[in-house]
Amino acid sequence: MAKSMKLVKHLANLGYGSRREVAWMFREGRVTDAAGEVLYADDPLDHGSVRVDGEPLDPPPGLVLMLHKPAGCTCSSKDPGRIVHDLLPPRFRLRDPALSTVGRLDRDTTGLLLLTDDGALLHRIVSPKSKLPKVYEATLAADLRGDEAALFASGTLMLESETTPLLPAELEVLGPRRARLTLHEGRYHQVRRMFAAAGNHVEALHRPRVGGLALDGLAEGAWRALEADDLARLFAAGDA
Ligand code: URA
Repeated sequence: MAKSMKLVKHLANLGYGSRREVAWMFREGRVTDAAGEVLYADDPLDHGSVRVDGEPLDPPPGLVLMLHKPAGCTCSSKDPGRIVHDLLPPRFRLRDPALSTVGRLDRDTTGLLLLTDDGALLHRIVSPKSKLPKVYEATLAADLRGDEAALFASGTLMLESETTPLLPAELEVLGPRRARLTLHEGRYHQVRRMFAAAGNHVEALHRPRVGGLALDGLAEGAWRALEADDLARLFAAGDA
């Protein structure tokens, strides 16, 4: 966010409207500083002191959110059905740079999903080099056999149509049909395919934690912007 960027472009990039619509908001005197003085479209940018209709601006670029994803919505903005962006303020859909999900959770998977408009940060989180642990709790259709922990920890398990084996993953048995699985990579439908490879079927899947960051009571469907200390915690549990 360059200081030289004009206020009108900054507001348009934050999704307040097209350049034209935002220019009208200035003409109507809806954009002011903190003291209520009307600002003009080509005034220099001082994000923290700008108000629209008296309200502080949405967070500037560099935004990272965590969302407690409910079942029944997808991470794909191309999906015609409910998508995770529908759970955020509508303006967030119009931001430039765009807010992308960090990896994906399946439609029926619940739990911690990160979104960011910071491409470098997104790559750092998903990079296998970071080895950020992703923790899943699975409810299974059949009783565990007893050999799954060794299979998943082996580092040799090869999923169908893949060419490299999975990294070792840790399984903790929570009950006859419940398990906690910690992954250090993120392949397509990985948890479901791992249990399928072990002759089982995942009936419900929840992700309570990514790296050192947990949902910590965030209600299903709710979200919050992450602060610097959240990001420090996120990476504290990995190698990056
Ligand atoms: N693994 C899956 O199978 N599904 C998810 O949503 C996440 C990990």
